[in-house]
Amino acid sequence: MTVVSCPIGDPVRLVCRHSDVTAVFSDPRFSRRLHYPGAPRFTSARDVSSDPESILNMDPPQHTRIRRFLQQALSARNVRSWRGHIQRTADRLLDSMASGGRSADLVEAFAEPLPNLVMCALAGAQEEDCARWQEWSNMTVSLTRYTPAEVREGLAEFESHVTDLVRSNAATGRGELISSLREAVIEGDSLDEHRIVRSVRGLIFAAYETTSSAIAHGAALLLAHPEQLAALRAHPELIGPAVEEVLRYWPPFAHGVPRRATQDIHLPAGCIPAGEAVIGPIAAANRDERVFTDPDTFDIGRRPNPHLSFGQGAHYCVGAALARSELEVALTLLVTRFPDLALRCSVNDLRWHEGFLVRRLESLPVSW
Ligand code: HEM
Repeated sequence: MTVVSCPIGDPVRLVCRHSDVTAVFSDPRFSRRLHYPGAPRFTSARDVSSDPESILNMDPPQHTRIRRFLQQALSARNVRSWRGHIQRTADRLLDSMASGGRSADLVEAFAEPLPNLVMCALAGAQEEDCARWQEWSNMTVSLTRYTPAEVREGLAEFESHVTDLVRSNAATGRGELISSLREAVIEGDSLDEHRIVRSVRGLIFAAYETTSSAIAHGAALLLAHPEQLAALRAHPELIGPAVEEVLRYWPPFAHGVPRRATQDIHLPAGCIPAGEAVIGPIAAANRDERVFTDPDTFDIGRRPNPHLSFGQGAHYCVGAALARSELEVALTLLVTRFPDLALRCSVNDLRWHEGFLVRRLESLPVSW
């Protein structure tokens, strides 16, 4: 089994097959509590594994408790009730893009603001705050972009901003997501203010980079595959499988995060000895030819499509229904409202951000 180095040199075992990555995600003997001396880190600053209060870094029973509240707040029923708002927000952004001429950067005009505005409304924030959200959010997924001091300062500011939102929700009821978390009582248990602030902060971060990345990926992949785009236009009901294929082909959370074996664990790839850390990149698992026929072909009709882009097991993305809804709305409106939409450069010339945990495009130049 290969041992690779994280960006700051920490060693971690690497597994790439779909079966191994699935096991790493779903076997409860792998822990996400990486707070021991020598635990692998992506950066020397605070990284995605550092915060013991982030749900992603918890194990049961603490994890199970918090997750139930998040699952209830982001239930399929709630997400369905938000669809109209997602649609209106997407339409408004596309109106503004269309009124600006016949070309645009789709990342800036659409893919980045849409998930941000959606979460802004769900958290009851003013739209002016969204610009700061983007910057704060960048700090959490930064590997090398910001200094440790910048990250510390930015995150403290963000925490105080979210605390204000939670307190103002208690007074005004603004922000359905916060109301759901504040009002939830599950088997006599409820969340205190500190835990609600941490949860909302985590949701904003988890939702923004990933969803905006996937919207841009979807647009780029469809425009780069005209026959697939034509099939989607002819059969709009293909939007569900198309979204799954976008997520499989270019997963936003491409590398995944490490986990530690709490005992010797035998995977198809070999044994992970107790105490060792392992990482299973989603991007590799999603192209495993043992599971996906012609894995390097982008095919919106692919069925089944058991990609791992939302993870698997206990930490499976709690916002998957919201992300899917945003992606379906965003890509459907884009391809129907702009019948002549085209990339202004070759897909191979698109530039990717470096130094972030989430894989995403710097820009997506389009014309219509
Ligand atoms: C296309 C968009 C998205 C992608 C690709 C994505 C991907 C993922 C993945 C891969 C995980 C599991 C990580 C692991 O187990 O190591 C995860 C967890 C999580 N996601 Fe998402 N996500 C997306 C959107 C969202 C949204 C919209 C929200 C919230 C509104 C969200 C909230 C979370 C949370 C809270 C967790 C941690 C769950 C837990 O630890 O139990 N995500 N996401």
